[in-house]
Amino acid sequence: RKVVLLYSGGLDTSVMLKWIQEYYHAEVIALTIDIGQQADNLEEIRQKALNLGAKKAYVIDAKKEFAYHYLAKGIKANARYQGDYHLATPLGRPLLAKIAVDIAREENCDCIAHGCTGKGNDQVRIEGTVLTLAPEMKIIAPVREWGMGRDEELEYARIHKIPVKQTKDSPYSYDDNMWGVSAEGGEIENPSLIPNLPAILQVCKTIENTQNDSQLIKIGFLRGIPVQLDGEDMDLPTLILKLNKVAALHGVGVTHHLEDRVVGLKVRGVYESPAAHAIIRAHETLEKFVCTRQENEFKLLVDQKWGYLCYGALWHEPLMDDLNAFIEKINEKVTGLVTVKLFKGRADVVAVETPNSIFDEKLATFMKSNAFNQNASAGFTEIYTMQMRLSQEKERYALVS
Ligand code: ARG
Ligand code: SIN
Repeated sequence: RKVVLLYSGGLDTSVMLKWIQEYYHAEVIALTIDIGQQADNLEEIRQKALNLGAKKAYVIDAKKEFAYHYLAKGIKANARYQGDYHLATPLGRPLLAKIAVDIAREENCDCIAHGCTGKGNDQVRIEGTVLTLAPEMKIIAPVREWGMGRDEELEYARIHKIPVKQTKDSPYSYDDNMWGVSAEGGEIENPSLIPNLPAILQVCKTIENTQNDSQLIKIGFLRGIPVQLDGEDMDLPTLILKLNKVAALHGVGVTHHLEDRVVGLKVRGVYESPAAHAIIRAHETLEKFVCTRQENEFKLLVDQKWGYLCYGALWHEPLMDDLNAFIEKINEKVTGLVTVKLFKGRADVVAVETPNSIFDEKLATFMKSNAFNQNASAGFTEIYTMQMRLSQEKERYALVS
């Protein structure tokens, strides 16, 4: 038996690498995928996998594919779930699973292993994708089977000489890619406790430590996709990685988030998504500016549904394609330049320029202008409010009779 293991280099998947060899007598091929994790040294992780007995250890750079085929859709859909969670983890999982299927086929493996627990969304996202793309593939999720707690894992690591790089004994569980970092566990789990942000945050400054000067950035969009940062053209992954650094200095995109998992649990997490938050704020503002009121009202509904499908492990659901078709169409006109002010955790859109807006200064101005026929508004109001007035009259009549 040959197994492809989605390997992050952390405690769970390192213990797993040994455990699969021992328990299943299987050969393990370790697979680490670069989707812009900000905290990892991937070459070190590859070496660690080989040291732990992996037959091969792949590190695959999927930053471009992640940005253009997953994040681009998320940006056009103003990716959000139940608030300001911009869906970094759920956007990453289907890609990791797809690459695992590709490598498994290339290497003649009949099995894919991952490090997710039985209580979370990630197992559903990864396994759902594998089941969809490769129904013949077997899946193992050792964390669901082995019944080890953290202490037992540490003990197993000690016995099997697995290096555990824990500078301090961090109770937090992280997921990380260029779109954002999630933290769960420790005191974050208990919503009555205040999360200790200085210990938790991986990329963002705490607001207390951000500078006292605001910073303006300009993001240029072409058909819904950011293509320019502060006057410089760049590809999407480069732009996101750059913007992460800048916005993180201002503590942008940090959110305490209580959410409903697909398996029914309510869980709190702390998210950091500096670039994602600034980009989504800029995108949705530009989009609102170039669309009609009817389009804007409907787009909110579509985006919300999109966010729930993405979060809810249904990336390959046909409705997702249907929604994407609509979202693509709307985004054809989302072109322009957006100025965002970064300051103390906020990313405020302070200026928008676009050739596509139906905004007309002559119509909207508070200054004297003849373009808008203000006398027509009295008749408009009378007709527009007719049903409201009629039903109120009915009610008054019903009360006296
Ligand atoms: N609760 C978030 C989500 O479902 C974050 C999950 C993070 N995953 C992890 N393996 N630490 O998207
Ligand atoms: C896990 O349980 O593996 C992480 C959290 C999640 O998947 O929601």
